[in-house]
Amino acid sequence: MNKQYNLSRRQILKGLGLTATTCILPINSYAIGAESESPVLVEAVSGQSELLGKGLGQTAVWSYNGMVPGPVIRVKQNQDVHVRFKNSLKQPSTIHWHGVRIDNKMDGVVGLTQDAVLPGKEFAYKFKAPDAGTYWYHPHNKTWEQLARGMYGLLIVDEEKPIAVDHDIALALDDWQLKRNGQLETESMGQIGEWAHGGRTGNVLTVNGKPGGSVQVKSGDRTRVRLCNTANSRILSLHVQGCSAQTIALDGQPVAPKKLDSGVVILAPAQRVDLILDFDKDPGSRAVISEVSEIRVPLMNFIYDEKQKSIAPKLNAPIILSDNGLAKMDLSNPLKVTLDMTGGAMGRMEKARVNGKELSIDELVRKHKMVWAFNGNAGMPEKPLFSAKRGQTVELTILNNTAWPHAMHIHGHHMQEIERKSRSPERSALFAAPNTWRDTILMDTAETVKVAFVADNPGKWAFHCHMIEHQAGGMMTWFEVV
Ligand code: C2O
Ligand code: CU
Repeated sequence: MNKQYNLSRRQILKGLGLTATTCILPINSYAIGAESESPVLVEAVSGQSELLGKGLGQTAVWSYNGMVPGPVIRVKQNQDVHVRFKNSLKQPSTIHWHGVRIDNKMDGVVGLTQDAVLPGKEFAYKFKAPDAGTYWYHPHNKTWEQLARGMYGLLIVDEEKPIAVDHDIALALDDWQLKRNGQLETESMGQIGEWAHGGRTGNVLTVNGKPGGSVQVKSGDRTRVRLCNTANSRILSLHVQGCSAQTIALDGQPVAPKKLDSGVVILAPAQRVDLILDFDKDPGSRAVISEVSEIRVPLMNFIYDEKQKSIAPKLNAPIILSDNGLAKMDLSNPLKVTLDMTGGAMGRMEKARVNGKELSIDELVRKHKMVWAFNGNAGMPEKPLFSAKRGQTVELTILNNTAWPHAMHIHGHHMQEIERKSRSPERSALFAAPNTWRDTILMDTAETVKVAFVADNPGKWAFHCHMIEHQAGGMMTWFEVV
């Protein structure tokens, strides 16, 4: 199956000459001022998008406000976000604010924190954004379909004191499965085959809904680039060349600045990275961010001016973002929980429970379209995985007993990887991020990862694989903080 798509990806990319990227990216941004009393309208609607580039035809999509991605919502740290969500689709939906340590009732999870917003209905999302950084939003109902059709947008929370950069750009990176006529391939959508393997991967990559983009820079400029993987299931391998790069934040949370020596950043679905790019080459040079997981696809070009240089070079000084002040963990006496992941193609799962009822793998697939399980349970269980007292440190040992990588996402909190047992430490060194706060952690096949976090946000929180087909196919659970 994959072979065929590789081929068509190459063909589509070649056939349309998309490797030569020329457009400047449109970034639609709504700045919600502190004074603004009236909420911003975010409407789920169907529409058309020029995913293949200007003049190369329209693809029918579902979107927020008719744009892919939806509007960038930008607020200052600790400011209120107030969004009037209107559902003008024929399918129920919600908005989940990914990575935000949000008030539980605003988390947008159907069946756990709110009812689905029915077609024609509205829901008011109002919450404080406590952490500066790069976040995003997407539906949390039939996400495998709604996200694949184009429903996502970025949420940027600005630091109270802005950092010194010449440009600040936010890029939502997506992976689409398009047919040769440029329309979404929908027959495979929701099919168990895709769900049991690595999830839905596509043949066309986009940056902010376009095949690629370019911006003008000057030698000596310093740029903050926020990258967000909004794909359903593709793990992006991003290669940066023609400038020097340092990582300053992961999944919104600041990290000690780290030079990107390998030039490669791995971003699992839903993960974000904030990079500082220093354009330290001569005038007339070019820097490129490419995606290299299958073939090299240049996504973003930074074209150095032919002559001009930045007047006040500030390169190579580390940028240290101020801490968002997440609670300190107490690992001396944590609540210990184990999560055993099983199932999927080439797994040996024979049975699993759904709503307390044990089913053979055949029944599981036939009756519930599920193929994965957490601790022998497929899909959202009635009882939580665990219940923690507010303020308690939780230590979660996750065993990947499947033949596939997974991107485990925690709601309402950030967690730290405190231990990783891996068969190929060299490979996992590329995506492991020990002792940094993350909301999504990539685990390779056969790995065991120990994570810990402080359960300090009261409510019922989802915990699932963000390869969205895996979530839909059973990799979903929840915990509560009381
Ligand atoms: Cu980004 Cu539960 O989701
Ligand atoms: Cu998964």
